[in-house]
Amino acid sequence: MKKVMAMLLATVLCVATFTACGSEETGSKGTGTAPESTVSESTQAGSEAEGDAASVETITAGVLTVGTNAAFPPFEYIGDDGEPAGFDIALIKAIGEKMGMEVKVQDMEFGSLVAAIGNKIDVAIAGMTITEERKESVDFSDSYYEAVQYVIVLPDSDIATAADLENKSIGVQLGTTGEIIAEDITGANVQSYDKAVDAVSDLINGRVQAVIIDKNPAEVFASKFEGKVVALDGAQFAFEPEQYAIALPKGSPLAEKVNAALAELKADGTFDALVQEYIVAE
Ligand code: ARG
Repeated sequence: MKKVMAMLLATVLCVATFTACGSEETGSKGTGTAPESTVSESTQAGSEAEGDAASVETITAGVLTVGTNAAFPPFEYIGDDGEPAGFDIALIKAIGEKMGMEVKVQDMEFGSLVAAIGNKIDVAIAGMTITEERKESVDFSDSYYEAVQYVIVLPDSDIATAADLENKSIGVQLGTTGEIIAEDITGANVQSYDKAVDAVSDLINGRVQAVIIDKNPAEVFASKFEGKVVALDGAQFAFEPEQYAIALPKGSPLAEKVNAALAELKADGTFDALVQEYIVAE
């Protein structure tokens, strides 16, 4: 048994080392910087985030398999090339680069992400809010964005306060914090959609009277359907701020690596550049 384990471990290390030392590592890396200059304590040539990251057990050795739900602009959407794109995707790719790991992104239903962590995917990045309930099944990285739920309504709607949402038909995306909030509203008839954009279409068609969704997607939809809907600040409904973070398997050593990479990206300006490119410019 011991022998088998040792052999397995040796294979994993071999593959991992090979990947870490392959072309990924030596080639030019775009936004990559000389990691040695940014981290002082590392014993290896790589950055702290990199360290032995490639030896952290992942579904495919040396690869970070990432789950998302690419229907949540500007954080994730399907790009012109048919692949997931957006702030979260650019962020996790930059994190993977710091860790010396290849990143593969899988698009799936938002409601399936948490259960897939640790079996189908290594981590999830999906504008996902840290909640106590999710923390029962997964760990979260340090938070990377503060959000709040917004309310999308028709331009002539008289919905303006929390009380106005009572007894209304409210559209939300399935499995989100918007859904949890809507279900708490007295008398609300909550309609859950796989994709938030379908909730917005039903608002325009008169099938629901409001849509509760995170601030930035709400603003993107309001500009996409300009003149047809407006996005109202959740503060006027007394909604609490929420923190987005990357979801990881419980107890995984990946957490430390991801957090180190995130800290490096914040320190070297990459994080802010991504905020400018994907969120502010939207
Ligand atoms: N922040 C909300 C939540 O965690 C909504 C996230 C939806 N994300 C997505 N990619 N569809 O529930």
